Amino acid sequence: MGWETPLMRASVDALIPGPGLRVLNVGFGLGIFDKMVAATQPAAHHVIEAHPDVLAFIASGPLAKSIAVHAGTWRDQIPLLIASGIQFDAIYFDTYAEYYDDLADFHRAAAQLLAPGGRYSWFHGGGASNALFNDVYKRIADADAEALGLNVEWTRMEMAPLGDATWHGVRRNYFSLDHYWLPVAIKPAVEVAAAKESRRPVKAE
Ligand SMILES: C[S@@+](CC[C@H](N)C(=O)[O-])C[C@H]1O[C@@H](n2cnc3c(N)ncnc32)[C@H](O)[C@@H]1O
Repeated sequence: MGWETPLMRASVDALIPGPGLRVLNVGFGLGIFDKMVAATQPAAHHVIEAHPDVLAFIASGPLAKSIAVHAGTWRDQIPLLIASGIQFDAIYFDTYAEYYDDLADFHRAAAQLLAPGGRYSWFHGGGASNALFNDVYKRIADADAEALGLNVEWTRMEMAPLGDATWHGVRRNYFSLDHYWLPVAIKPAVEVAAAKESRRPVKAE
């Protein structure tokens, strides 16, 4: 969906401050997010995508050679990535049409796959036809990510009205707010914990 372009732009900017990072995106869609990732010159660019048509679209597109595609659902692919020992500096999750429990499960996967100091974001579309519901999802997602040791920062973005034409040919209008809350969950750097530990006073015998 083209209207999501500013949200993808802000998400890439918040997750990927410079070149040379290891990036994982779950859900290629139109490739808006991934084209922006490719422009940051990542050290590694991985994509998990399940839909055969989207996989064919990737294979015939300009990113086919530069991204590592993991074909299948993230529930099938994530355990393989975790078992491989790979780590990422930036992870994004935008699968649409899944339930909150799926996002909560993905939080756990992201916490495992992030390198220390790494950043993780997701499309915060839960309850996005009503500001109160969207705020409730925000609080729940925030608490769940924090419980995994991730520090979540939220940035409010103002949105122009989308208008009815945006939703022509789409099963349902899934976003009707005048703002978007962009989450960035940061895994603390090990060095910080180690530094704190080294400053602890030594107990007298
Ligand atoms: C809303 S689109 C992503 C849009 C993308 N952020 C962009 O910038 O164009 C959602 C994508 O997630 C994929 N998807 C949905 N469920 C999935 C799952 N369980 N595992 C992997 N991919 C999934 C869909 O096939 C679709 O390509």
